[in-house]
Amino acid sequence: MKKEQLIQETAVFVREHFEQEGSGHDWWHIYRVWQMARQIGTTEQVDPFRIEMAALLHDLDDWKLSQSRESQAQEWLSSIEVANVDLQAILQIIDEVSFKGAGVETTPTSLEGMVVQDADRLDAIGAIGIARTFAYGGNKNRLIYDPEVAPEQHDSFKAYQQSTAPTINHFYEKLLLLKDRMNTETGKKLAEERHQFMEAFLEQFFREWQMEERLIT
Ligand code: ADP
Ligand code: NI
Repeated sequence: MKKEQLIQETAVFVREHFEQEGSGHDWWHIYRVWQMARQIGTTEQVDPFRIEMAALLHDLDDWKLSQSRESQAQEWLSSIEVANVDLQAILQIIDEVSFKGAGVETTPTSLEGMVVQDADRLDAIGAIGIARTFAYGGNKNRLIYDPEVAPEQHDSFKAYQQSTAPTINHFYEKLLLLKDRMNTETGKKLAEERHQFMEAFLEQFFREWQMEERLIT
């Protein structure tokens, strides 16, 4: 099968898998990451096939979403007979994509991994990032904000995974840290504006929380 055809078949498979996802990891998240990774990939010396396949499959086995111990990405790649070197490279990109806590180093080992990670992280910040984060919090029954629970800087993946903190804390535990951890020049540029939008959102959120608007009149 031609590579373009493998990508299209994978998109159909993944779309079906994520159609009903309610925690901000629905098909349109995958679609945006796919398109963004493609776009960033045009500015780097990379293998576009590996990038597109990894972007499409990147959340299939995510610890937040999948209980399965088998790798569904690996199963799919084998079933459509992707060449073994590509299969291994794609799985490696997926394995390295995720954020694992403020104090945990997660720089990918390949340029393709860096591109996919930047694309995934761009979708975690800005207006869309804010929307996804509250969707996730609601899906997991978390509070929006609790002034009695301070954000933490997790220094192990396990501590990060175990957190059940209110959703606003996630901005301080992950989202605001991403701008300075982008890998590519394009990623860095795009992250800047999205970061500023989150800062403005948080400023307004706390103004409203503290009822500071009332003091103005
Ligand atoms: P990663 O692999 O880096 O975790 P994902 O594509 O799986 O990236 O999506 C992570 C997104 O899920 C976050 O950006 C956020 O929107 C949401 N999310 C994950 N953990 C939390 C949390 N503890 N509170 C709120 N949102 C969360
Ligand atoms: Ni993702």
